[in-house]
Amino acid sequence: NVDLQVELAGITLKNPVMTASGTYGFGEEYAPFYDPALLGAITVKGITPLPRLGNPVPRLAETPAGILNSVGLENPGLEVFLQEYLPRLKNLDTAVIVNISGFSLEDYMMMASAFQKGCGIAALEVNISCPNIKHGGMAFGTDPRSAEEVIAAVRKNTGLPLIAKLSPNVTSIADMAKAVESGGADAVSLINTLLGMSIDIHAQKPLLANKVGGLSGPAVRPVAVRMVYQVFEAVKIPIIGMGGIMTWQDAVEFMLAGASAVSIGTANFTDPLAPLDVIKGLEEYAESRKCASIREIIGAAH
Ligand code: DOR
Repeated sequence: NVDLQVELAGITLKNPVMTASGTYGFGEEYAPFYDPALLGAITVKGITPLPRLGNPVPRLAETPAGILNSVGLENPGLEVFLQEYLPRLKNLDTAVIVNISGFSLEDYMMMASAFQKGCGIAALEVNISCPNIKHGGMAFGTDPRSAEEVIAAVRKNTGLPLIAKLSPNVTSIADMAKAVESGGADAVSLINTLLGMSIDIHAQKPLLANKVGGLSGPAVRPVAVRMVYQVFEAVKIPIIGMGGIMTWQDAVEFMLAGASAVSIGTANFTDPLAPLDVIKGLEEYAESRKCASIREIIGAAH
């Protein structure tokens, strides 16, 4: 009977475990496995103004350490999302976070204005860190001034809580977090995927059609933990930690580094029930440490 509730960007989550954007679709894919209401929140796949088929295949490569993807923001587009997906998502008894992406400042502003308080979602996650598109995406999330500008523009266009999703492909993650904090972000998600490449030794060429992709999974975990730790010391806004969380022990590590909540991404593909094991493990860990609330472990490693 540990209190598992956490506060994040003005939202109360029933527990600190969420799903990472792009790894949980729009919720329905995982409904056969468990009730999404058991999760603290779900984050849906990144939405862009227009529908997208994404990049050419192959766009997924499994490595022993994690998954490389160059999906390129395949999604049904804003209109179909609002008409077909949002009504179903609203019926779920959990916080729904919508990840929005774009190719220009105007795209981000337009996306933000489509989501307002009372529309049935808890927050927007502003994706300024997609490594797989040519214009926009990561370009906004690797330069502090552009990042601050996008977040400030989005801020003006919606009353919803804003979570900035940051890229690990930067020299100073602390500077990026400070920039989005001053732009008006209510929280940060870190990390998106780390640029990588796999080479087919028989074909003697890169495995992905796009050549490079974003790496997720256990390989990036120490990078993500380091970034959460540094950002916790740099800003006041809360952190959602993600990057290769496969077990409850990994989730504890992120929370000790300073994450108020954690997102499960790659692990959803290897074990759809992973988020439930993480919730149970976090509760038992807090109990064994005699914590009345899971909140007591946030940042405890500092
Ligand atoms: O690794 C990623 N892949 N990060 C994103 O933000 C988007 C996604 C994609 O669709 O390429």
